[in-house]
Formats: sequence, structure tokens, C-alpha cells
Amino acid sequence: MFKDFANVWTPVALSEELTDRAPLGVRVAGTPVVLFRDKDGKASALLDQCPHRGVALSLGKIKNGCVECPFHGWQLNSAGQVCHVPWNPDAKLSTLRGVTIPVRELGGQVWIYTAPNATPPTEPEVHEALLRPGVRISGSRIEWKSHWTRVMENMLDWPHLPFVHRGTIGKAMVARSAGGRMDVAWEDRPWGAHTYIQIDGKREPGSLDFRWPNQMNLHIPIPGKLMIMLVACVPIDNERTTMLLTMARDFMTSRMFDWFFNRSNARIAAEDQAIVESSFPIEIPPPGEEKSVRTDGPTLMFRKRYFAELRRPQDETRRAPSGGPLLPVVGSA
Ligand code: FES
Ligand SMILES: [Fe+2]
Repeated sequence: MFKDFANVWTPVALSEELTDRAPLGVRVAGTPVVLFRDKDGKASALLDQCPHRGVALSLGKIKNGCVECPFHGWQLNSAGQVCHVPWNPDAKLSTLRGVTIPVRELGGQVWIYTAPNATPPTEPEVHEALLRPGVRISGSRIEWKSHWTRVMENMLDWPHLPFVHRGTIGKAMVARSAGGRMDVAWEDRPWGAHTYIQIDGKREPGSLDFRWPNQMNLHIPIPGKLMIMLVACVPIDNERTTMLLTMARDFMTSRMFDWFFNRSNARIAAEDQAIVESSFPIEIPPPGEEKSVRTDGPTLMFRKRYFAELRRPQDETRRAPSGGPLLPVVGSA
């Protein structure tokens, strides 16, 4: 479960997506997860696989704060306990359980810890500004045909801004990109790193936080105002990534302005999409396998940590095999 993405906290949905009316199914690193709200409105997460015959619970309904399987109507509560089995009043309910996934709700997002039936050793962390009263958090989810590591590196990449985003967030750098020098600062933090840039020795406004393993917070400088663009790159499987695009702001906080911020966030992401999706190989290779320069510091830091802590070194199934065929060729002359 949670292949190459185990034992980490990740946001997987927006709080507002989770209702007490219908379960929400998400796939995280190949593992199906069902999210729902229990009787008290608390976010709940289970493996999206009914313990009876493996059906996706997310196709079912919510009844009395339990998720009801669409196949034979078994009901599971937020603790994974089966509390109702139709036609079988004599069923030993205490022996029937689903698989729980640790879940929290924080900063307008629903988080899971990628380990089944676990007690997480840490809690998810968000920028304190997201917890301030009066800060509006809105967002959307989009899907890219990319390995999440390529998407994450794109989020940590300063030098692409005047090329890919020459009309938006990189506009101010365009004129200086031809002959200028960029220096990228990377300051380690307990949750990841804080990074910012200097161009020709002068500090640029704005900064970027990397939150291990898969989140970026871009602090957009607006005098006297708070505006943070947050992106979580959530692996769906080896070839697809959900990007959870969230915007936190302390102005224009009415819900009616959400569409405006969500649209500008999605527009900036769209500028990157085709470029990042074209990356080959689809997953980032180890640090020495692509040519790098000084301004690639942040992506190299990510790359080293990914291979050290998440990627299972024995798993080479995603790489093109360097030797002969993986299976014997049957019927060849
Ligand atoms: S498969 Fe879920 S109740 Fe039978
Ligand atoms: Fe970009």
C-alpha cells in the first residue's frame, strides 16, 4: 500500500469537498481511500475496499455517519468497525472490520497519513497563517499525467519562471533572464525548507516553502496583505498526480471571490502542465543521471531526500529494463 509514498502526511482533499451526504473516493500512491464525515461531522478515512468482497465503499452512501457499501449494504463506521450486515442479524460484528487510515482536518484541507491502521508518530503541519481566523481558504483539484516527483520539482524550480510564466508570475524576471545571475537560497526547516532568490545580488520579493514530502507554499508579496498559494502534489499512481491547488488570503474573503482565486491558480498551473508532462523518464532519476547547474539546488535537495526516504531502492520496475526481457519469450523460434 502507498507505494513509494508510505508513512507521510499529505493533504488529499479540500475540507469543503467532504460532506455528510456522500463519500469521496481518492487514490493515493495506488491505494484507494474513502473519505467521509461521521455522525459528529469528523473527517474519517478508510481503505476504499469493502472487507466483504472488495468493492469500492466510495460508490456507496453515508447512513447514520457510516459508509454503506453499494454491494450488500454493510455499514462501516469511522473506526472501521462493521456495524450493520443486512440479512444477517446473527453476524458477529466484532470480527468484521475495514482498514482505517489516519486522517486530520487542518488549514482547510483533509490530510491522511499513508499507513494503514497506524498511529502516526507526528501530526501534519501547516503555515500558521492558515489557522488564523478571518483567512479564507479556497481551492480546486486537477490531474496531471505526470509522476508526482516531476510535479513537485517543478514547484521548487525558480529559474523556469520567466520562461514558462512570462506573462504571469515570471513577468518581472523576463528582461533579466538573458544576462542576469540568479542565486537560490535554501534554508532547512524542521518541516522542509524555506527558499528565495537573489537576482544580480538583489533579493527578490516573495519566497517559497517546501513542506516535505509533497507541498509547496508560495508567499506572494502584497503589502499589508496575506496571500499564499499552496500546492500539494499527491501521487495517484506511477503516471498520474493530483494537484491540490489552494489559495489562502486575508482580503476579498467572501466565498463569492473564490472562483477568481481558483481560476488564477489553475491558470498558472496550466502554463506548466504540458512541459512537465513531457519529462522523460516520467519519474525523476537519481541526482547524477541528469545534468544540473547551480540554480537546480532545491530540486537536487528534493531528489536526494526522495531517494533516501521514500523510494524503495529495490523497486526498479518503473525503469526501462537494461538487460533482456523480464519474462521468457514464449514461442520464439
Ligand atoms: S462487497 Fe461490500 S457488502 Fe458485500
Ligand atoms: Fe511553474
